[in-house]
Amino acid sequence: MRLATPIFFLALSSFSLALENGLMRIPPMGWLSWERFRCNVDCKTDPHNCISEKLFMEMADHLARDGWRELGYVYVNIDDCWMAKERDKTGQLIPDPERFPGGIKALADYVHSRGLKLGIYADLGTHTCGGYPGTTLDQIEQDASTIAQWGVDMLKLDGCYSSKAVQALGYPRMSKALNATGHPIAFSCSWPAYQGGLPPSVNYTLLTKICNLWRNYGDIQDSWDSLLSIVDWYSANQDVLQPVAGPGHWNDPDMLIIGNFALSDEESRSQMALWTVLAAPLFMSTDLRTISEASRKILQNKLMIKINQDPLGIQGRRILKEKSHIEVFLRPLSHSGSAVVFFSRRTDMPYRYTTCLALLNFTQNAVYEAQDVYTGQIISGLKTSTFFTVIINPYGVVMWYLYPTMYIEQSDRTKFHPFAL
Ligand code: GLA
Repeated sequence: MRLATPIFFLALSSFSLALENGLMRIPPMGWLSWERFRCNVDCKTDPHNCISEKLFMEMADHLARDGWRELGYVYVNIDDCWMAKERDKTGQLIPDPERFPGGIKALADYVHSRGLKLGIYADLGTHTCGGYPGTTLDQIEQDASTIAQWGVDMLKLDGCYSSKAVQALGYPRMSKALNATGHPIAFSCSWPAYQGGLPPSVNYTLLTKICNLWRNYGDIQDSWDSLLSIVDWYSANQDVLQPVAGPGHWNDPDMLIIGNFALSDEESRSQMALWTVLAAPLFMSTDLRTISEASRKILQNKLMIKINQDPLGIQGRRILKEKSHIEVFLRPLSHSGSAVVFFSRRTDMPYRYTTCLALLNFTQNAVYEAQDVYTGQIISGLKTSTFFTVIINPYGVVMWYLYPTMYIEQSDRTKFHPFAL
């Protein structure tokens, strides 16, 4: 009996910390303004591209009209620079009245009427990274209730102009405040990115309980080098990062930059494949009004999205780093499926990589079929010992969806293809 009290309180305290919003059981997908549109607030000379309600309405129209929504891209997310430079007299955050004349509630209604969700940005500190009003510790509950009243569905809480101590108090407190509003509001935390992304400064056990996703590394820029630095950091630290991702709580390597100015089509296919094998959130940050057909095709690849959204929600790992500058990533999927990404870090010419499934950690005595996620080509009859060759372009990937078609020594030779589209 004596022991019961502390155990009871322990259970209660972890219960009150837990993120019980039930959201984002699969990685979230949508569109986020930052990487492409930044803090362009000059609506006088650049009305088409400035951070304004018009921009978000137009992106919502495209998400709803051009086949994105049906594939899962449902979040329309506002990043920094949406606010007026000061809070109102009651201390409430308000949008810039010239750029958001209808207000955020009307924008949320507009987005919802198109079957989409609205996300917004705030910063746990004195100012946002762009210099707009921050959320100090004593303003957390008020801001949570404001965005809930507006009908906002997701909050990204950044960490500029803040301290380690403020973040340690503020992120759990905002999580609680969002839950207390009674509105389902997904919570994206930038906390780990401000603390070096790794334990012991970062407590991932706590993060899985208070955040639906978290940025843990630097900002992606529109460049291949920036993308590679993120991929390398994720691989170098996968023993820490891989186990903490799962349904409702995801590592966020930052936005997709496909459709912008830096990536070739080959590199774009690589970003999509790598983000998918990492079970990453898929937030595009590109101009959906002018996106090329080639980029659209990569972002709308159905089998790719199905793999990204796999219900088991297991993050993949880099399993091989060859001297030939080929890397292999593997993500386990539901129904005994797997995604394999062969990634070339070479810059010279297409590389012929020969391997077999046994060398890629496949141990089951089965016959597999592979579907090339980009070409659709099916490769049948792969035993774990069957050698095969994939040709990987410089900067590029070959991505396979693999599934067993037959278990050897099994009388019931059931053939199944769980991802029938
Ligand atoms: C930080 C974040 C970015 C973006 C900007 C906005 O740098 O990491 O994702 O939100 O702030 O100012």
